[in-house]
Amino acid sequence: MSLDAYLGSKLSALRAQNLFRDPADAAARDVVAATAARLEVPFLDASSNDYLGLAGRRPGNVSRETSPQVGAGASRLVNGGRPEHTALERALADWVKLPEALLFTSGFAANVGTVSALAAEESVVISDQLNHASLIDGCRLARAQVLVVPHLDLAALESALSAARAVPVRWVVTESYFSMDGDGPDLAALRALCDRHRAFLVVDEAHALGVFGPGGAGRCAEQGIVPDVLVGTLGKAVGSQGAFVAGSSTLRTFLWNRARSFVFSTAPSPELCARTLEQVRLVREGDADREKLHHLCSALRQALAERSVPVLASSFGPIVPVVLGTAERALRVADALRAVGILAQPIRPPTVPEGTARLRLTVSTRFTENDVGRLADAVARACAE
Ligand SMILES: Cc1ncc(COP(=O)(O)O)c(C=O)c1O
Repeated sequence: MSLDAYLGSKLSALRAQNLFRDPADAAARDVVAATAARLEVPFLDASSNDYLGLAGRRPGNVSRETSPQVGAGASRLVNGGRPEHTALERALADWVKLPEALLFTSGFAANVGTVSALAAEESVVISDQLNHASLIDGCRLARAQVLVVPHLDLAALESALSAARAVPVRWVVTESYFSMDGDGPDLAALRALCDRHRAFLVVDEAHALGVFGPGGAGRCAEQGIVPDVLVGTLGKAVGSQGAFVAGSSTLRTFLWNRARSFVFSTAPSPELCARTLEQVRLVREGDADREKLHHLCSALRQALAERSVPVLASSFGPIVPVVLGTAERALRVADALRAVGILAQPIRPPTVPEGTARLRLTVSTRFTENDVGRLADAVARACAE
């Protein structure tokens, strides 16, 4: 069964019980405002939670037409939808070349809400051991059976899929670029495996979006694969806040009805969405910045290798993990860097497995070549102490 057929049958059940929430109803505000205008009576919004009338405040005397309001006033289902949401969703869907997108207030909310809504009783979810806490919590809240497989182990995944042959619906959940290891799956192989076992593929592109792929569209776009569900965050390379889930129109409608972190939460700030739309345009046009970023990443990896600093061999891109072993050593190395004016995060269990505490260096286009040399020197010195 296709994902659309599967989710469509669930939506039909909601319709039959009169419990279906139609995303098209988000336009109710405009329709009712037009009705009020036609009747020549004031439009009265008795649906928002904007009790003190502050959500619609705009800085200075800027008019509604030129400045979006700061607060949405309610969830999307309760008339919190504004044109800035749909404009941003259209731009995001276009960016990742999927039919539709749905905004969430954060990547955490997107993952928890999406995985828990999709992975129902009749499913099994197969999750990479190093998936982000939000994906793990999504699995915990899901009614599905959850199988955790070793990191990036396609053979283990295949065994898990074979073992779950009798389970009606199978989900594979992964990050495309792992936030603590700076590595990622062979997405083409993963897609092929999912197709062979008729499993649906959920890919969290949080750290890949803006960094990899054509126009920064992520690692799925880079490898030419189409996931069933793509999660993107806006607080990382996009430099804003919030997140989105992209996929088919049926997926969007299903999440609109069923993702609890979407349904029961105030819609993102329209003002922020308008700013984010501009950030997305800049990221898409940022090929020169991406080239610079990847050049700096290679330069840092080379400089660290020349100084015998142990960078995780499977890593690539702007996340450069220097595995140090104990939490105590990671703290000591991070402190030594702080003492020379360099901030680098020591990562300890439970964020990473026991015995693999590390320094997580991240590269940015804000760096100069000199910064890269200084960083490599300081890390080498701190590791040797
Ligand atoms: C892989 C991954 N997914 C999701 C998130 C959550 O995103 P947000 O910060 O927008 O809540 C993070 C944040 O660190 C992440 O690393």
